[in-house]
Amino acid sequence: MIDEAQTALEAAILYYQGEPIGTVAARDPEAEALNYDQCFVRDFVSSALFFLVQGKPDIVRNFLVAVLGLQSRERRLDCFQPGQGLHPASFKVEVQAGKEYLVADFGEQAIARVAPIDSCFWWLVLLRAYVKATGDLALAHRADFQQGIQMILQLCLEARFDLFPTLLVPDGSFMIDRRMGVYGHPLEIQALFYAALRTARELLLPDGTGKTYLEAAEARLSHLTYHVRKYYWIDLQRLNEIYRYKGEEFGDMAVNRFNVYPDTIPSWLIEWLSGTSGYLAGNLGPGQIDFRFFGLGNLMSVIVSLATGQQSQAIVNLIEQRWQDLIGYMPLKICFPAVEGQDWKIITGCDPKNIPWSYHNGGSWPVLLWFLTAAMLKMGRDDLAYKALEIAEKRLLPDQWPEYYDGRTGKLIGKEARKYQTWTIAAFLASKALLENPSHLALISFDEDLEVDACLI
Ligand code: GLC
Repeated sequence: MIDEAQTALEAAILYYQGEPIGTVAARDPEAEALNYDQCFVRDFVSSALFFLVQGKPDIVRNFLVAVLGLQSRERRLDCFQPGQGLHPASFKVEVQAGKEYLVADFGEQAIARVAPIDSCFWWLVLLRAYVKATGDLALAHRADFQQGIQMILQLCLEARFDLFPTLLVPDGSFMIDRRMGVYGHPLEIQALFYAALRTARELLLPDGTGKTYLEAAEARLSHLTYHVRKYYWIDLQRLNEIYRYKGEEFGDMAVNRFNVYPDTIPSWLIEWLSGTSGYLAGNLGPGQIDFRFFGLGNLMSVIVSLATGQQSQAIVNLIEQRWQDLIGYMPLKICFPAVEGQDWKIITGCDPKNIPWSYHNGGSWPVLLWFLTAAMLKMGRDDLAYKALEIAEKRLLPDQWPEYYDGRTGKLIGKEARKYQTWTIAAFLASKALLENPSHLALISFDEDLEVDACLI
């Protein structure tokens, strides 16, 4: 099965001027390509991790250089141009008059015109992984890379409309790139933002303007960490607090800072949690906690230590105790539970692709397997990682590497899932590689941040 997966991954490699530069999102001979014949920044991270552990860093280097070249560089006052510092969602190679060009999509072509806020964070996370795998710090220290990192920080750290340490983004600005009620301050963006800030701290040089950005990143890191750990956290104790919240508190001493009303606690949640489990909520904003469990945001929070050690342990407990809900017949649910009925109509805009328990709305995504593996290895629960891999292994090859699975427990191949989805293949290979050699975990993980932790106590 490994051989088949490797062959399929090789076949997905995209070439530019004779050099490998990325992987296309999917190669399904039976589905219309749309933009799946492009290299998505977020998708490539899964392939890249495997290439790095395989000792093939060139493709990753080429990708990092190419995407940096596509980063939006000009300061603009034009609403139809991407903001300075933004990275594209995807790119393709086009040939004009016999010459090859890279053409980027910042969301202006994408279905529903969604903005890829996560791309610049993934690029940074991958740059760090590349540096760790190869020792090629010189690449990150190159002037154009330093400038690129500073532009990302400028884009994210600049004061804007709200006064939160978390990042305010529109709906569908990350892996869930459709309308799913994930606008505002979704967890996945915050976990990636956190990882990006920590990466900047490692890779940004303190000379010239670098120092100012480093200081700003440092300050934001501690505010962001405190905010997410305290206000996104859900366990029985927190639920008890929220249940007895009073509303309409004004001023500094407010306990219920975001004016969340207890009636918003969904009834499924009370029984779903045990005394030892917990997780980070999907979103937090004025008058709102999104109590849905989001797979990638929670796993990334464990991997990069946005969650404390204790919180990470509780997230692992939740996955173990709610195995059937979150893993079932295919690891792992992108989001739990699905929104149904009137909620589905309002939240997804009657999206037929996001019907309950399908695609982003409670579907199961094999790409999350490697994130699960990494999180479990970090927490010393190799047994759970092996158990999940065994489940996925039975189906992925015979099912031809689907993009996602449907149904409450992931029994069905996704209604509109593409076959030969590259990050499904890469996730399987990366999980195998991580289990074989857990030291690769260091490419993507961060230890607990003692500096930030100290100022939070
Ligand atoms: C879907 C996914 C998105 C992914 C893209 C390409 O739109 O929601 O996360 O990047 O497909 O695979």
